[in-house]
Amino acid sequence: MTGRLRIAVIGLGARSRTWLKVLSAHPGVIVTGLADPSAEARHAAGVLFPDAATAPDAAALARTAQADAAILVTPPGGRAAQIDACLAAGWDILAEKPLADSVAEAARFVARAEAAGRQLLVGLNFRYLPVTRAYRAALDEGRVGAPEFGRFLYERWRDGRLPHLNRYPLQMDHPMLWEQSVHHFDLMRHVYRREPLRIDARTWNPSWSMYRGHANVSALIEFEGGMHVTYQGTWAGGVDRLDFDWRTDCTNGVLIQREMMGGLVAATRQGEFAPVETAAHEPWITDAAALLDMAVRAFTGTGPAECTGRDHLSSLLMLEACIRSSDRGGPVELAELHDETTSEEHA
Ligand SMILES: NC(=O)c1ccc[n+]([C@@H]2O[C@H](COP(=O)([O-])OP(=O)(O)OC[C@H]3O[C@@H](n4cnc5c(N)ncnc54)[C@H](O)[C@@H]3O)[C@@H](O)[C@H]2O)c1
Repeated sequence: MTGRLRIAVIGLGARSRTWLKVLSAHPGVIVTGLADPSAEARHAAGVLFPDAATAPDAAALARTAQADAAILVTPPGGRAAQIDACLAAGWDILAEKPLADSVAEAARFVARAEAAGRQLLVGLNFRYLPVTRAYRAALDEGRVGAPEFGRFLYERWRDGRLPHLNRYPLQMDHPMLWEQSVHHFDLMRHVYRREPLRIDARTWNPSWSMYRGHANVSALIEFEGGMHVTYQGTWAGGVDRLDFDWRTDCTNGVLIQREMMGGLVAATRQGEFAPVETAAHEPWITDAAALLDMAVRAFTGTGPAECTGRDHLSSLLMLEACIRSSDRGGPVELAELHDETTSEEHA
């Protein structure tokens, strides 16, 4: 391919505001299509990209827009027709997380993309934060030894009625898991470079939660090599703030990420905590821009594909394992779910 990668953006809601900003700043891409059922959303995005074709949905856009790839920024439920339309048009896809609202559906999307010979990547922007890169590098170089256990806390009062936020999580069965914990579980797999074996979890909803489904997740996750991580996540914390704390205990010391996008410190067993250097970043922009860079390289055959849909299935399996474990009241082996998903993949 020569020239700029032509991109169609499907879904023009809250998250797309970041995407449109990042796309407009990238010299290697041109936005040629915009789809959303809302005329108002199409108009607002069309002001930024006046030459782009517009349509109410992916199938209609595929008939009019010339594109090489699509960025899918729609709610995770009900994406089958959008994925099919993109693949039929010969477009590669970068889909926002979670790829679908069930592992079985996501596995079908992955299988369809592979059968069509197209790339399907997932928008795991947190992997591209400088603090994530620094955390992973610190473990890789054994800065405080080898990791053996960890604790991941994300405690937030998320007012899902705020006008700048999406509304659909208010009605989801498991909004915390599918919208937020998916990032955390993916980060654990990415940073620890280990796959989970077993999860013992409980999900529930505090009495004051504004979410219909469960806003709380508590889990003990056992990874390969005997590594254990205790996880607590909530969107219905008792105070209006976000507390983030991800600690990993290693053979010679401890690493702690004290903020969602920064604040990495390290200490050896008898030492003081000292900051771990991380590159400068603009929240939500640096990470999305780096993710876009990766996708552009992958789609143009000039770099490796990261955050593939197939890899993402392993993070989605963790979500379903939490739900099953909570229903069962006991631990769930990931292998159990993995075997079921493999048989459903081509259904
Ligand atoms: N990676 C991140 O940090 C991050 C942050 C926020 C949201 N997200 C993800 O982005 C996705 C979208 O979330 P959002 O906050 O933008 O939701 P949103 O509800 O604000 O926006 C979704 C948009 O999709 C449109 N839409 C619905 N069906 C469509 C269809 N068939 N064709 C075209 N457009 C359609 C809606 O009209 C709406 O404008 C979700 O998967 C969410 O999890 C990711």
